[in-house]
Parts: sequence; C-alpha cells; structure tokens
Amino acid sequence: MKGIVLAGGSGTRLHPATLAINKQLLPIYDKPMIYYPISTLMLADIRDILIISSPEHIDNYRFLLGTGEQFGVTFSYTIQPKPQGLAQAFLLGREFIGGDPVALILGDNLFFGAGLQDLLTRARRRESGATVVAYHVDRPEQYGVITIDEHGRPMRIVEKPAAPESRWAVTGLYFYDNRVVDIASRVKPSARGELEITDVNNAYLESGELNVELMSRGFAWLDTGTHDDLLDAAEFVRVIQRRQGVQIACLEEIAYQKGYIDRESLAARGRAFAKTAYGQHLLSLLTQS
Ligand code: DAU
Repeated sequence: MKGIVLAGGSGTRLHPATLAINKQLLPIYDKPMIYYPISTLMLADIRDILIISSPEHIDNYRFLLGTGEQFGVTFSYTIQPKPQGLAQAFLLGREFIGGDPVALILGDNLFFGAGLQDLLTRARRRESGATVVAYHVDRPEQYGVITIDEHGRPMRIVEKPAAPESRWAVTGLYFYDNRVVDIASRVKPSARGELEITDVNNAYLESGELNVELMSRGFAWLDTGTHDDLLDAAEFVRVIQRRQGVQIACLEEIAYQKGYIDRESLAARGRAFAKTAYGQHLLSLLTQS
C-alpha cells in the first residue's frame, strides 16, 4: 500500500504564524507537525510515501525529510499548485499510486493511543472498498460528520453541517482501493471550490463499500486548525512524553522497532541530536533490551 501526506494549504487560519512557513512545518512541542502523520503511516507498515505541498514550501520538506533512508522509508515529493481540495491528492499522486491501494493522511492530524497499530492493520488489510476513521467530538460542525446506523453501518457523510446528525467526525486518515483515482477524477468542485474528500467517501458509501473504524475513548485525535488547537496538541504531547518517558512520533524509533533501520543508523541519528531529549531517547533505545 502507498501512502500520501497532504501538507499544503494556505494556513490562513494561523496567520501571521504561517505567512512565511507552511503550517505542517510548525512544531508540535518538540518536532515538526508532519512527523505525526508520517508516524501513523509507518505504524500502518506503509513505507512508500508521497509528500504533497505547495510550490513555495516543497523544498523545505525535501530538506527536512530527504529520501527517507534515515527512517527506512522512501519519500517522493509533488507540488499542489493551489489548495483545491483534499481529493486532488489522488490526481496529483496518480503516477505514484500506480495500480496500488493507497492511504491518505492530512498533514495536520495527530493520532495516539494503545491499539492504534491494530486499527491501522485492520484498515489496510481490507482488499476492496474504503475505510474512514471516525472520532467522537464535542463540535462536529467543524468536520465531515458521519451518521451510523444501529448495526454500525455508515448512512451518510455531510461536510461541516450546520446541524450535525451525529457527533462522529471523520478524521483525516483514509484507506482506499485503487479505484479511488478514478472516483476522484469524477468529483466536481464544491460550493467552496474544492474537490471534497467527503464526495469520494460518499461515492464508496453509495456502492456499499465504505467501512468505518470507530476510535474509542482511549484514543487521542487532534488536529491543528487554530492557534488554540496547536497549543492543545503541543501540551498533550509534552504531558505524555514527560510523564511516561516515551516519545510520540519518534520516526527513528518506529523504524528501528520495525526493523527498517539497524542499530548503527539509530546510533548515528541519536548522536546527531544528542543535545535534545529526542536524541537522548534514541540513544537510550540502544541500551534497552
Ligand atoms: O481533519 C479532518 C477534516 O479534514 C475532515 O473531517 C473533513 O471532512 C475534511 O474536509 C477536512 O476538513 P478541514 O476543513 O479541516 O480541511 P482543511 O481545509 O483545513 O485541510 C486540512 C489539511 O490539508 C490542512 O493542513 C491543509 C491541507 N490541505 C488542504 C487543502 C484543502 C492541502 O494540503 N491542500 C488542500 O487543497
């Protein structure tokens, strides 16, 4: 399965912080925002990853992430000339996707929780159809909202409804079979002028091929649309990391645990960042059994 991280957008809701920098390069506590969605794809065992960003910022991602060798993955890069909607990712990524299934994650989405790998594995193993991940939220009107019947089957998804029918938000993590490229190419721009991912998901839903994974209370899903969301996410990461002595979205750690990189590579990265808690954490992994 291929993976796409969509990390463009104009970041207008975070101006002036995002006038000169792309939103997904801003830090969430101690690492760039894009590390978090990349970690989710790696936890789903996806190693062939396309980064899509705006023309002004794509080189910053190249500088930050390079080939991906340091994490035992392969990064490719494509520009999105203008932010014309999430579903455009499949058109821009058509060649990269080829004949494979694909997962899409938004560059500003952070997932954390025990059992995350199991959920991801379940979603990626489905051979046909699509899977969305839903999360119970306090303010559903800010999201795509999914209504689910009493048997757990999806009934409809409405993008940012004024009067939401449920409190289940569709998160920015989606799994598709290869037909998504075709489906996305038939989607028409919405009233706000975007190719909506919700239209793609509803196309799968109408043919009875949309699966939903409900994320229970034990999970955290945070996105970073506003300054307050950004600070909430940073606080969340700081509290968990300091309390438990773990790292969230430590890409080298995930790579090492999965056998994508060896001890030598891990040690080299640890030494390179030795002045930080992140680097110290990498070095500490070398002495753990
Ligand atoms: O976060 C989940 C929500 O994401 C879903 O519940 C909604 O159904 C989905 O439409 C989307 O809603 P948002 O309004 O939050 O999407 P936003 O326009 O903020 O874009 C999300 C990220 O994707 C953002 O970090 C920028 C990036 N982006 C967005 C667009 C529209 C791009 O890279 N290119 C784009 O064209």
